[in-house]
Amino acid sequence: MGLEFCRFLLSNKPGAVVIATCRKPDSSHPLADLNVRHPGRLTVLQLDVNREVDVKEAAETVQTEFGKVDLIINSSAMLHPSGKGETSLKEVSAQGIISTLTTNTVGPLMMAKYFAPLLQRGSGAFGQQPPEKNKQHSGILVNMSARVGSIGDNALGGWYSYRMSKAALNMATRNLSIELSRGRSKVVCVSLHPGTVNTDLSRPYHRNVPKDKLFSTEYSVQCLMSVIDHLNVDKTGRAYAWDGSEIPW
Ligand SMILES: NC(=O)c1ccc[n+]([C@@H]2O[C@H](COP(=O)([O-])OP(=O)(O)OC[C@H]3O[C@@H](n4cnc5c(N)ncnc54)[C@H](OP(=O)(O)O)[C@@H]3O)[C@@H](O)[C@H]2O)c1
Repeated sequence: MGLEFCRFLLSNKPGAVVIATCRKPDSSHPLADLNVRHPGRLTVLQLDVNREVDVKEAAETVQTEFGKVDLIINSSAMLHPSGKGETSLKEVSAQGIISTLTTNTVGPLMMAKYFAPLLQRGSGAFGQQPPEKNKQHSGILVNMSARVGSIGDNALGGWYSYRMSKAALNMATRNLSIELSRGRSKVVCVSLHPGTVNTDLSRPYHRNVPKDKLFSTEYSVQCLMSVIDHLNVDKTGRAYAWDGSEIPW
C-alpha cells in the first residue's frame, strides 16, 4: 500500500514531491520504475522502522534537502512474524508479540518523533483548511491502523499480537493529536483502516473474503486519499475507515 500511495501522489498531485522509505531500496524495482517515470519527483531513503538511527538519519536528510513535510503516511507493518495471526492463546509467543509491537507501534511512533518538527513546518497542502487562522494545520500524520485494532469493535477475538499492536498505535495517534494540536503549527493525526486489501499482509486470509470485499491497492488508496483530503483539526485524534466512517476506539 505504501508503494501505491507513492504512485497515487506522483500521478494525481501535480508538483508534489514524494519521499518513499523502505528497508532495501536497491532491490525495490517498482520504486526504481516510478523514479524513471517521474524524474526528479521521487526520493527513496533506506529506513527500517525498527532502527531508531535510520529514522533519525532519514529525518535529517529530509530536513536538509526539503526543510518540511506536508503529509506522512506510516504504512509499514506486519501481521505476525509467522505470517499468520494467532487463533488462540496457545499460539501466543513473547517473541512474536514483541516483534509485532516493535514494528507496528514503536516504529510509527519513532517516525512521529523525528518527523513531527518537519510536519510543523509544512505548508498545509493536504486536507481542508478552514478560514479561521487558528484552526489551520501545517501537516497531516496518518498511521495506517486496522479495524481489528478497535477494542469496541472486537467481537471475534484472536490475532493477539496484531490487534494489540494496532490498539496501542491508536493510543499513540490520540496522544500525538493532543500534543501536536497545541501551539500555532498544528498537525492533524489520524488512524486509518484501508479495508481488506489484496496485499501480502492479508494473503493467507483472502479465500475467506467475498470478492467484492477484497479491495485492490488502487481502490483502497484512492478512497483513503479522499478521506485525507477532507481532514482538518476538528477531525484529529480519531480513526476512520476507507469510506470516511469513524471507527470506535
Ligand atoms: N492489507 C490489508 O488487508 C490491511 C488491512 C488492515 C490494515 N492494513 C494496514 O495497512 C498497512 C499497509 O499494509 P499492506 O497491506 O500494504 O501490507 P504489506 O503488503 O505486507 O506491506 C507492509 C510493508 O511494511 C514493510 N515493513 C515491514 N516491516 C518493516 C520495517 N521494520 N521497516 C520498514 N518497513 C517495514 C514491508 O517491507 P518489505 O517489503 O521490506 O517486507 C512492506 O513493504 C499496514 O499498516 C497494515 O497493518 C492492511
